[in-house]
Amino acid sequence: MQIRYANTSDIEQIFALEKEIFNLESYDIKFLNSCVQNKNSYILAVFCENNKILGYAILSYIFENADLLKIAVDKNYRKQHIATDLFNFVKSELKKLNVENIFLEVDENNVSAINFYEKIGFIKFSERKNYYKNGNTALLYNLSI
Ligand SMILES: CC(C)(COP(=O)(O)OP(=O)(O)OC[C@H]1O[C@@H](n2cnc3c(N)ncnc32)[C@H](O)[C@@H]1OP(=O)(O)O)[C@@H](O)C(=O)NCCC(=O)NCCS
Repeated sequence: MQIRYANTSDIEQIFALEKEIFNLESYDIKFLNSCVQNKNSYILAVFCENNKILGYAILSYIFENADLLKIAVDKNYRKQHIATDLFNFVKSELKKLNVENIFLEVDENNVSAINFYEKIGFIKFSERKNYYKNGNTALLYNLSI
């Protein structure tokens, strides 16, 4: 098992997971590549086992604030604390970069993600009605690190 920054040769696998998990909401290859190349603004971290990527996290950051844009685990490997391990890795990287707050938004209906975020300490501070294309509300969360 290894958790590390993604490199360009990981993009194909990450994109395949993106499409499978997020479908119409998936990032494109161009954006994923820019995350790998632009380490001053993004962290793209992967959890892998024998070169197979089982999960990944994408964050953007500027000065003391970061946004958790995506965190996802292959559906066959969920509930094994892979997302928790990934998050702990990116959190410690962000601390080295003097980031103090992580923000995120999550669909009110994404129960597993909401449970996950609350388990790792995120606190809901606001919501935006009609935020998603399907009319769902976004819940806004924050964590001080
Ligand atoms: C959300 C997600 C990343 C969690 O990944 P994971 O590796 O399964 O999560 P972990 O095993 O680290 O879970 C840690 C805790 O989160 C909570 N949790 C995770 N999945 C849960 C679920 N399906 N139902 C309820 N609680 C859940 C639990 O409290 C769990 O702790 P426990 O195992 O001790 O009970 C994963 O379900 C996923 O990829 N979902 C689809 C993508 C997505 O919606 N991402 C978030 C928006 S970008």
